[in-house]
Amino acid sequence: MLLEARQVTKSFGAFTAVADVDLGVAAGEMIGLIGPNGAGKSTFFNCLTGDYAPSAGTIRFDDHDVTNAPPERHARLGIGRTYQVPATFEDMTVLENVMVGAFLRHPHRGEARDAALAVIELTEMTEQRHLRARTLGTPGRKRLEIARAMATQPRLLLLDEALAGLTPAEIQRAMDLVRKIHATGVTLVIVEHIMEVILTLAERIVVFNQGKVIAQGKPDDVVRNEQVIEAYLGRRKAHRR
Ligand SMILES: Nc1ncnc2c1ncn2[C@@H]1O[C@H](COP(=O)(O)OP(=O)(O)O)[C@@H](O)[C@H]1O
Ligand SMILES: [Mg+2]
Repeated sequence: MLLEARQVTKSFGAFTAVADVDLGVAAGEMIGLIGPNGAGKSTFFNCLTGDYAPSAGTIRFDDHDVTNAPPERHARLGIGRTYQVPATFEDMTVLENVMVGAFLRHPHRGEARDAALAVIELTEMTEQRHLRARTLGTPGRKRLEIARAMATQPRLLLLDEALAGLTPAEIQRAMDLVRKIHATGVTLVIVEHIMEVILTLAERIVVFNQGKVIAQGKPDDVVRNEQVIEAYLGRRKAHRR
């Protein structure tokens, strides 16, 4: 296993946002992580990247125990992530933003620039490379967020709603990018609400509800699972009342 999370729990005071989650990710997989709002998906990602120290449990990446390691160590070992709210530097250009990621492995400016330009080409942002981040629309921002993460040269990339807020045409383009990234050998875990994206891309789906994994398996099986239907449709029914 490239990543092995065991019994991961994260509590905020008396509230447990993630409860005893087990997840193994093999190298080369593309996993979809779904669940209603507040299910604990982003909190779990934050534990995997060292942004949060888990309250209990262990996380191993590539045979290193990273449970309580700082985010820099996770990044250096090869865990990259995007944030649900893009963490771009607004007054910096696309190229400069991507260079921030590239500096992780290329301390010299010239090399960081070359590495960033290669990622910008991969993510098809070459024409926008000198634009300031603030001038980009949602699709550009989402793409820049992926580019910045890719510039850290991750082996495992965690995408947190990286396609949210896009139009159907933009979603197709973003899905092509995700496939392209996967084809370069990057292992992916994708949090996404758009079922079409998850069902098309993911080889395996893991379902969160109230901090717990309530189901996992092949996409076709998971969407037929009673507990999964309840977790989604149960809420929809409640709205209609
Ligand atoms: N820093 C925090 N402090 C307190 N509660 C938090 C914090 N982060 C997340 N939560 C709570 O944990 C739960 C799970 O949140 P989150 O992981 O963002 O869910 P998801 O990403 O699945 O929508 C929510 O109830 C949220 O309010
Ligand atoms: Mg979230």
